[in-house]
Amino acid sequence: MTTLVTGGAGYIGAHTVRELRARGREVVVLDTLERGNEESVVDAKLIVGDIVDERLVTKICNKYEITEVVHFAAYKAVGESMTHPMMYWRNNVAGTISLLNTLIGQGVLRFVFSSSAAVYGTPKTSPVTESEPLAPESVYAETKLAVEKILASLSTNGMRSVSLRYFNAAGASSDNRIGEDWLTSENLVPRVMRALLDKSFQLEVFGNDYPTPDGSCIRDYIHVEDLALAHVKALEYLERGGETFVCNVGTGLGTSVFQMLDIATQVAQCSVPHTIGARRDGDPVSVYADPTLVRSVLDWKATHDLRSIVESAWNWHRTHPNGYR
Ligand code: UD1
Repeated sequence: MTTLVTGGAGYIGAHTVRELRARGREVVVLDTLERGNEESVVDAKLIVGDIVDERLVTKICNKYEITEVVHFAAYKAVGESMTHPMMYWRNNVAGTISLLNTLIGQGVLRFVFSSSAAVYGTPKTSPVTESEPLAPESVYAETKLAVEKILASLSTNGMRSVSLRYFNAAGASSDNRIGEDWLTSENLVPRVMRALLDKSFQLEVFGNDYPTPDGSCIRDYIHVEDLALAHVKALEYLERGGETFVCNVGTGLGTSVFQMLDIATQVAQCSVPHTIGARRDGDPVSVYADPTLVRSVLDWKATHDLRSIVESAWNWHRTHPNGYR
């Protein structure tokens, strides 16, 4: 029984691979390394290749006796998806269709999918439940929703799946072995770390005039190791015979940008150099999860608090200022 992890050399994928291995599972990673890092695959076989390579995927299924798949392989830059939509439809949707087709042909019928809270667009209220209307605002988010829909339609083929709608993954591994690369991320936490460590860089806070207590936007930051564990729980659920379902993966707690800066200042014992800029187009005011469903169905709950997220990120970035390079 081996788990195939596509995109397992990416940020969340690599943490998930380690969690699976820590629980004694056999894991094979398939990654093009176009955007992943070989060095982040610490303790599993890495095969460099593409999910659309039907012959390769078939060979892997047979050789390693693959019984289930965790599928991360996709592009994830929201802005890029708007300027290069075909790249996103082809890689994220057509690529996944090809992968699913091959897996069904091989009788591999358990599938965990890396989806995103971006499928909600700008939710009317937070906490966001799974019954919130789906209103993607980017091609990236559209591709995530398209795959969720494809998976929902596959029960006639016997394929059962869990789609995990991630909120804001952040932090690094507790043993400081793997983490995120600030040069390839536009997310808040790596940018805060860069502002602390790279004198040539200043964080821009995107707006301080939102209708929130301190004027900055609110998000649900989830430790990447907690998120990794949710994939293990999803596999266990499918192994127990669980039916296809979709759930949020977040902590249920909202944190503002200024609260994040305060914690980072405490952890680094140095204030975060920043300027106040204009609002970023398309930024919702406040988005945090209602994690009731994931807790009840997958028995998953976040265990790391915000300080632990920031401490792990700080340890990683100050010891790996050039990421994996
Ligand atoms: C983004 C993506 C989302 C993806 C998520 C996790 C967009 C519109 N959304 O969410 O699809 O699932 O990342 O990868 O890109 N901020 C600053 N200054 C910065 C960077 C961020 O003030 O330099 C603020 C933002 O305005 C936001 C918060 O920090 O309020 C978090 O931003 P970010 O880390 O980019 O995540 P999201 O926009 O929530």
